[in-house]
Amino acid sequence: MNLPKPKTVNVDLYVGGLSKINNIDNPIKLSANESALGPSPKVLELLRNNVDLKKYPDGNSNELKETISKKFNLNIDQIIIGSGSDEIISLICQSFLNEKDEVIVAEESFLMYRIYSQLNGANVKFAKNINNKFSIDETLKLLSSKTKIVFIANPNNPTGTYLNADELINLRKKLPENILLMVDDAYAEYVTKKDYKNGLELFKDSKNTVICRTFSKIFGLANLRLGWGYGSKEIIKAANTFKPPFNVSGIAEKAGSIALQDEDWINKNIEHNEKWIKKLYEKIISKNIKTNEPVANFLLLNFNNAKVNSEKAFEIFINNKILLRKMNAYNIENSLRLTVGTEEENNKFLDILENNF
Ligand SMILES: Cc1ncc(COP(=O)(O)O)c(C=O)c1O
Repeated sequence: MNLPKPKTVNVDLYVGGLSKINNIDNPIKLSANESALGPSPKVLELLRNNVDLKKYPDGNSNELKETISKKFNLNIDQIIIGSGSDEIISLICQSFLNEKDEVIVAEESFLMYRIYSQLNGANVKFAKNINNKFSIDETLKLLSSKTKIVFIANPNNPTGTYLNADELINLRKKLPENILLMVDDAYAEYVTKKDYKNGLELFKDSKNTVICRTFSKIFGLANLRLGWGYGSKEIIKAANTFKPPFNVSGIAEKAGSIALQDEDWINKNIEHNEKWIKKLYEKIISKNIKTNEPVANFLLLNFNNAKVNSEKAFEIFINNKILLRKMNAYNIENSLRLTVGTEEENNKFLDILENNF
C-alpha cells in the first residue's frame, strides 16, 4: 500500500508516570501531582445529577469564561479554554512556532513545553537550572534572533522551586519585547510564600506574556481534562485559530465553573497541603534525603546522601504499595518525586520511611 508518508518529527514523546507496577493492583499513587482531596463535593453532585450527553457543548465555553472573568477580574475575550493546560501549551506552540524557530525551556521542567515545540518544528534550547531553580542568566545566554518563546513553570515541576515576584518581573524585563513568555501557573494555588506572585497577578495586562492554568491540580479534575490560558487579544485570537471547535466537554466546563467558586474547598486543600508537606519535608530531611523547600504539592527527593539509592527506594515503596515518580524522563539522577496524598496515604509513606531508611 502506498499510504501518504506521515511527517517525521524529532521529538522525545511524553512518557507518563506509571499507575500500575509489579502486578500490584491499586497502589497508592503519589506520582502525578494530582490533588490529595479530589474534586469539590459540589462538582461530584453535578456529575451525579446533571449529565446531558446528547448535546454538543458550547464551543466557546462561555459559562466558564464568565466565572473566570468574575473571579480574577479578567477580560472575557482574552481567555481561552483548553482540554487541560496541555492543550493551551500546544495551541500557543501551533500558533507561534515555525520550522527552525527556537524556544528556551529549563533543562528540568515540565516536558510538554519541549514536546509541543518540537512537534511544531522548533529547536529547543535547554537552560541550566542553578540549584534546581530556573536561572534568568542561563536563559538569557541562550537568546538568539530565532528565539520565539520562553517557557517557565512557576513553581517548577519537577524541581519544586519557584521564582519570587521580583525575579519573575525581572525575567520579563530582561527578555526582548518581541519574545513571548509563557508562565505556567499549574501549582499557583498551593503557594503561600509571601514573596510569590502568580503569573496572572503579575502579567494580566502584558502584551507579550501568556499564562496557563489547570484544573488538574488543586481542583482535582485531572481526568476531565480542563485548563485555560490568558493573554492579549492578539495572542488569544491566534491560539483560537487552532482550537478544535468542541475541545472541552460541557461537563468539564460546568465542573470547572463550580470548582472555581467553591472557595471553602480550595482553602481546605491549601490547608491540607500546608500541613502535610511540612510534615513530609521534616521527616524526609531527617533521613538524609535532600529535598526542596515545600512550595507546591510535591517534593523532589534526592538520595545521594541517603541509606539507599533512588532505585532501591522506589522498590521499597512499591513493595509497600506506594508509587512514586521516577525521574528518568527528566534526566534527574538518583531522585524520585513525591506528591502529597491524603492523611492516610501520607501516614503510610511516613511509616515506610521511618522503618526502612
Ligand atoms: C507545570 C505543569 N503544567 C501543566 C501540567 C498539565 O496539566 P493539564 O493536566 O492541565 O494538562 C502539569 C501536569 O503535571 C504540570 O506539572
